[in-house]
Amino acid sequence: MKDATYLQLVGARILSEANDLKRDSHALAADLSLDPATIDDVISGSATPETTDEVIRRMGEVYPIDETDLRLLPDDCDDGIKIMRAKESRATSRIFRRSDRNGNLEPYYEYRDTAFSRLSPFRPEWIRELRVVSDCDPANPDVAFNHGHFLHQYTMYVGPVNHYWEIDGRRYAAEMHTGDSSYHTPFRPHTFTSRSATERALILAVTFGGNVRRAQRELYALGARAEHYLLDHAGPSAGTKSLIRQYLHDAAITLEQLDAELRRAGATLTARGAVGGDRPLSARDVEHLAMALGVSVRDLQVAVFDDSEVIVEHTSPDDEYPYPAATDHRCLIRPMIRTAKMPAMRGFTAHITTPDTNLAGGFTTSLHSWIYNYGHHATRLCWSDGSGERQTVIEPDDSVYVQPFVTHAFSRAEGEPADLCVVRVAGHVSGDTQRELSHFPSISRVVREDRRWY
Ligand SMILES: [Fe+2]
Repeated sequence: MKDATYLQLVGARILSEANDLKRDSHALAADLSLDPATIDDVISGSATPETTDEVIRRMGEVYPIDETDLRLLPDDCDDGIKIMRAKESRATSRIFRRSDRNGNLEPYYEYRDTAFSRLSPFRPEWIRELRVVSDCDPANPDVAFNHGHFLHQYTMYVGPVNHYWEIDGRRYAAEMHTGDSSYHTPFRPHTFTSRSATERALILAVTFGGNVRRAQRELYALGARAEHYLLDHAGPSAGTKSLIRQYLHDAAITLEQLDAELRRAGATLTARGAVGGDRPLSARDVEHLAMALGVSVRDLQVAVFDDSEVIVEHTSPDDEYPYPAATDHRCLIRPMIRTAKMPAMRGFTAHITTPDTNLAGGFTTSLHSWIYNYGHHATRLCWSDGSGERQTVIEPDDSVYVQPFVTHAFSRAEGEPADLCVVRVAGHVSGDTQRELSHFPSISRVVREDRRWY
């Protein structure tokens, strides 16, 4: 699997699609007006890129499928990681201007790209605040808000940065310091300024698309009808009741039929009480409904959060702990903001103290990681995707993208300990996808189809 070339993987993906379409290579060749030997070459990965491309193009024309699904991502990582050096980041520098109090367009932000890959769900930026203010007042006319954006934003602060945000027309502000963090839900207007004309004031902003971003193409196709997916949040059981109504429609179950199923499950709840009304559903009710609808209890649960749409975390030395264990002290971790709303979005700072380069005490995570050296000292990075061990030095302002399950360990390069900002988010494989995948009998044919379905 490890050594498969890009064309072999694309060939396997074409075979998987042909299986879904219930075509063998002869049927595929006939439908695409190609020679069966050509199809076999493409599936085995021995055809040219042009021929492979031609097969994908014809499949997209002949069958009602999404041909972009067959165009796999060429791996742009180096054994599972991708580094962007400080110099490369600096070369992407661009200045954004926004109006000041006099209506003049003056420099507001300097943006720089940092490490990301085709595979990574995030587009992290280094953003320096160029607008200097002398207060923390969101009504200050030098503060210019944006309109909010589609991506979630996880932000770490370095230096004296003011953070402003708007919820339902009301504006808020907070003074932030190095190591503080915040999380913004999509489409919430926000902005940042500096409180100092001399000190470095910047944010490390990890913007990323969650599951909704991944569903974007389908949502664009559905347009206004996508609104029917929104769950009711008006009461404690409102979300669950929306889901029950949806399951009834999806399976063409009538209220009378649900009543009969509920009685069979031993419930006292009525179907009308399950789909409407103000009465909250008890845990027992939800169990009965799950039984009656043939779903699991988890499928009917809708979490209610007290979090605001923008949340802020001020860092404190009291939160610090040694990692990976108190008895194996390689670095000091300080958690950044966590919200139950986004269980697959985690961040922390790491103060690297160990001289030990051993990978065994390093990080391994199911999430995609973005790491930025925001301090003044270099650190040694060792990593392995399972095929061997690699090393490099990560200098200040270098950044790194790490694929899931690539083990990576940091240690002191020379001199003082380094300070890293680490933000991790899920890609396509989390939550429901992970649960579904875990019921498959084997992973090998999921990641690379190798045979006809019969
Ligand atoms: Fe933003």
